[in-house]
Amino acid sequence: MPDYKLLTPGPLTTTASVKQEMLFDHCTWDDDYKKITTRIRRELLKLAHVEEPEYTSVLMQGSGTFGVESVLTSSVGTEDCLLILANGAYGKRMAQIAEHAGLRYYMEEFHYDQIPDAGRVARLLEEHPEITHTAMVHSETTSGILNDIASVAKVVKEAGRTMIVDAMSSFAGVDIPVGDLKIDFLISSANKCIQGVPGFSFIICRREALDACEGKARSLSLDLYDQWKTMQADGKWRFTSPTHVVLAFAKALEELEQEGGVEARSRRYRENNRYLIQGLKAMGFIPYVSEEHQGPIITTFFYPENRNYTFEEMYCFIKDRGYAIYPGKVTDAETFRIGNIGEIYLEDMERLCEIFREFLQAKGAAA
Ligand SMILES: Cc1ncc(COP(=O)(O)O)c(C=O)c1O
Repeated sequence: MPDYKLLTPGPLTTTASVKQEMLFDHCTWDDDYKKITTRIRRELLKLAHVEEPEYTSVLMQGSGTFGVESVLTSSVGTEDCLLILANGAYGKRMAQIAEHAGLRYYMEEFHYDQIPDAGRVARLLEEHPEITHTAMVHSETTSGILNDIASVAKVVKEAGRTMIVDAMSSFAGVDIPVGDLKIDFLISSANKCIQGVPGFSFIICRREALDACEGKARSLSLDLYDQWKTMQADGKWRFTSPTHVVLAFAKALEELEQEGGVEARSRRYRENNRYLIQGLKAMGFIPYVSEEHQGPIITTFFYPENRNYTFEEMYCFIKDRGYAIYPGKVTDAETFRIGNIGEIYLEDMERLCEIFREFLQAKGAAA
C-alpha cells in the first residue's frame, strides 16, 4: 500500500484512531446508533455557537455538493429567486445546481483573487426586490481565498433575505459565529476540518428558515426538511446511513475537543499555513491570493518564471517522499495548490519545504 499524507483540502489525512472506528459494522436501527447521530448533531450546534430551538442541524448522505444541492433545492421555492456570489469553482457550482434544478437565480461573479464586496451585494438586493436568498462560499477552495461572510451576511440579513453559506473547507478550521451572523443555512462536510472521512455533509439551519422549506424540495433524497424531520424524531436517518463514516466522525469530534476545540485547531492550521507560505516564497513560489485575503486552509502558488519541470514531475517527486499535493484550479494562471489541514503539523510543513528544496536542486533550479 502506498503511504503518504494528504496536503489536499479534503479528503485529508485522518488519525489512526478515527480510521479504527470504521472496523465495526454498527446496527442502524437501535438506540445506541441513534444516540450517536443525536450527539453529533448536538456537537455541531456547539461548534457553530448556536442552540436549539433557534437552530438545528441535519446530516445528509453524500459528499459536500449533496449538502449544497440539498439546501438550494429545498429552500429556494418556485416563487423565490437566488443570488449567487461566485469567485471560484464552488460558487459557480451553485449556479450549476440552480440551473439544473430550474431555480430562478442570478450569479454575480468576482475575480478569483477578489472577495465578494458587501456594498455591491447591498446595491444588487436593492435593485432586485425579487431576490429572496443569497448564497456564497466562505473558504473558496479553488484559490484558498477566505471570503468575508460577516460583511455580506450583515447586508443580506438587514435586507431581510435568507443567507446561505458553503463553509465546506472552513467550518471548525475557522471559527464561525453562525448565530451572531444570523446565517440561515451553513453547509460543511465530514471530511474537512473536523477531520472525519468522506460520506456525508451536514447543515446548520436556522429553524425558521428550515420550516419554510417544508414541501418545497425538488428532489426526494435531498429533501432537507424531510431529512430533518425524520432525524429530529429519534436520531434515525431517513435512508441507509453511512454507519462507518458516522462512527469515524463521532471519534473525530472527540479528538477535536481533545485538541482544544476550534480555537486550537484553527491556530494549528494558521501556523501550518504561515510556515508553508514563508518557506515556499523563499524558494520563489508566490501565492495567488494577497496576504490580506489568504485563508488558512489551502494556498495556491504561481510557479517561478522559466521553470523546467511539469506539475506531474513535481507531484511524483513529492509523493515518493510522503506527501500528496494538489493541481491548480484557478482558470487565469498556471498554479498548484497545497492544503495544510487534517492531521498535519509544523514538522510536516518543514519536511515539505525540504522536499521542495531537494526537487529544485535536482532540477538545477534552486532558489
Ligand atoms: C468550498 C467547497 N464547496 C463545495 C465542495 C464540494 O464538495 P464535494 O467535492 O465533497 O462534493 C468543496 C470540495 O472541496 C469545497 O471546497
